[in-house]
Amino acid sequence: MKYNHILLAVEKAIAHIVLNRPKVLNALNREMVSELHDAVRQITADGAIRVLVISGSEKNFAAGADIAPMADLAPAQASEFCFNRAFNALEDLPIPVIAAISGYALGGGLELALACDFRICSEDAKLGSPEIKLGIFPGAGGTQRLPKLVGISRAKEMIFLGRNIDARTALEYGLCDKVVQGDPLPEALALAEQLADRPAAALQSAKRVINYGAGRDLRTGIEFEEERWTDLFTTEDQKEGMKAFLEKRKPNFKGK
Ligand code: COA
Repeated sequence: MKYNHILLAVEKAIAHIVLNRPKVLNALNREMVSELHDAVRQITADGAIRVLVISGSEKNFAAGADIAPMADLAPAQASEFCFNRAFNALEDLPIPVIAAISGYALGGGLELALACDFRICSEDAKLGSPEIKLGIFPGAGGTQRLPKLVGISRAKEMIFLGRNIDARTALEYGLCDKVVQGDPLPEALALAEQLADRPAAALQSAKRVINYGAGRDLRTGIEFEEERWTDLFTTEDQKEGMKAFLEKRKPNFKGK
């Protein structure tokens, strides 16, 4: 599929999306986000893809929503400009998603990264929610996903003040999972390869159960966990994983 503002490539069961509007630091406009949404649909439909990696250019992940087309919007148009549908679809992707972040991940760029399962940052990464300085606040999941990762006070500090944090602080906050020297993409792809090796049904069920429980009370989450966990005993990979352990050999998972 040919896109104008993103690149999509698939290699060895790993899909890679590159945000590709470098002249405006990958600022996200509607067309770009709708391309991202379309790519997420394609990946969901393709049962052979096991992991998705999203990166920007080597210089920047994304410096936020594109401010130019937003400036004169009325509320109804702002609602159409909102990126929630695409970012929710990204979060709902059954496979793991890793964001590889260099340079700026601001505003909608950070919200995009928040909808991923992991964030790997380069030393030079700067993460933040500067929307308050534009007279708005993060409106693509940021007020909801950020506090879940960093805690309410830190999220309020980032959102109320609109100040960026560096990669080391993001690591300390739990907003970033790993900081690397230079390009974070090789590290993200190495993690993707490890994840692609895991039994797909168990991994996807684990993601589903964790995300489901994150917004619900403990007992509701545990009930759902039990249903999905028992379902796994219908899979070939469960039989193979346990048999291989008992036979003291490496499991040969088939993703079935
Ligand atoms: N929307 C639209 N254009 C953007 C953009 C955004 N979110 N972020 C950067 N750009 C554009 C700039 O307007 C500039 O375009 P120009 O070359 O035509 O003037 C180009 O990208 C380069 O950005 P510039 O500001 O010159 O780079 P910088 O290194 O001096 O500053 C930032 C980088 C990220 C600090 C600065 O661009 C910035 O504050 N961007 C907006 C961040 C933001 O508020 N995001 C939330 C939006 S809701």
